[in-house]
Amino acid sequence: MRWLLYCGCYLCGMNTPSLSARDRAAVWHPFTPQLPVQDAVALVRGEGALLFGEDGRSYIDATASWWVNLHGHAHPYIAQKIAVQLVTLEHAIFSGFTHEPAVELAERLLGRLPHMSKVFYSDDGSTAVEVALKMALQYWHNKGTPRTKIVAFENAYHGDTFGAMSAGARNVFSRAFGPLLFEVVHIPVPLPGSEDASLNALTEALDEHTAAFIAEPLIQGAGGMIMYEAEALSRIYQRCKDKGIPVIADEVMTGFGRTGTWFASDQCTVKPDMICLSKGLTGGFMPLGVTLCTEEIHAAFLTSDRTRTFFHGHSYTANATACAAALASFDLMEEAHTQQQIHTLAHFQQAQTRRLKNHRAVMQARCKGTIAAFELRSTESTSYLNPISERVHPFFLERGVILRPLGNIIYVLPPYCITTKQLEQVYAALEEFLETC
Ligand SMILES: Cc1ncc(COP(=O)(O)O)c(C=O)c1O
Repeated sequence: MRWLLYCGCYLCGMNTPSLSARDRAAVWHPFTPQLPVQDAVALVRGEGALLFGEDGRSYIDATASWWVNLHGHAHPYIAQKIAVQLVTLEHAIFSGFTHEPAVELAERLLGRLPHMSKVFYSDDGSTAVEVALKMALQYWHNKGTPRTKIVAFENAYHGDTFGAMSAGARNVFSRAFGPLLFEVVHIPVPLPGSEDASLNALTEALDEHTAAFIAEPLIQGAGGMIMYEAEALSRIYQRCKDKGIPVIADEVMTGFGRTGTWFASDQCTVKPDMICLSKGLTGGFMPLGVTLCTEEIHAAFLTSDRTRTFFHGHSYTANATACAAALASFDLMEEAHTQQQIHTLAHFQQAQTRRLKNHRAVMQARCKGTIAAFELRSTESTSYLNPISERVHPFFLERGVILRPLGNIIYVLPPYCITTKQLEQVYAALEEFLETC
């Protein structure tokens, strides 16, 4: 019967619904208003920096698919390593058991971040942050001096689960949940020129109740690609250290080369006590999160008192296939070729930022490492809901470029394998857009 139906459709050419139409009927997408209904672009495959649509068109993935992709889509090396892992050990319980990919990945991460001592696995960026916050809170609990106050930067974004939302800025993303978020003291970001104000606010905020300070080092991503200097952050970290307060670096977005170095923390002279990683960790192939901590933090859990166990874990903790993807991405990251790609991309981005910063439509152009951001002038204030944003996505899609703005801030954050020709196409479209403003 199924064969007959299929044949009937095929022979008479009867229209089968498109993927976009089936999607519209069945799927609810993230960060997507439900009205007016807008069809999702149906993708059928990817290669390098390109995504290919059901409509036969190709799109340059200039936001690295929400900042996850490093080496290109469907990269054969990562795909092959995943395939081998899938037929060896796809996944296994991670409490009381372990496996080679998880151990090797932890070893290699610790090799790159030698001031860290242990790696705790989770599923994504939000859970990596949840783990860090819970670890910091229980660190104090286990020491017998419970503390619950968290200090964070204004404008921060740390994810969409409740702890991560609480640490983030109170804004349109979290408004509906406001009363349920725990209290966090938000201090100003140490932007160039306001480093002292930030440090003073921190000094005022840190007290005997403070459990941890959390920050997105050097670049606040979803908050609008806000950039600040490593020296200012190191001073902030040092002030926390002076008071014995653990520092959490949320490197979910900045990790794996995005800021020009392997980790943003590499640029800081003072090191954090915990680091959250996800996104680029697997090269954009599989969901995986990790939280690394120092021996000082871990030591608070070194007890045979079972009530002081860190009672946290997810069904898919340290998924072996995701760890294999991360190891493959790690291999590629270590290649001189990739480091050259990062260098070339950073150089290109800097040149474009310099070139466009005086455009009449650009209020501020900024660049750090491989990321460039352009804050556009607007009659309305800079915000995620700035009306400019509604024009950006369709404008660039029409030109074969995927750019999702943060309100009136357009940023370019592509996979490292993007070609110069593709980058030129992205910037040609961007300039064309600026002319319409
Ligand atoms: C700095 C930072 N932390 C945490 C997250 C949350 O990560 P995920 O979306 O994987 O939960 C993000 C996501 O954009 C992020 O940029």
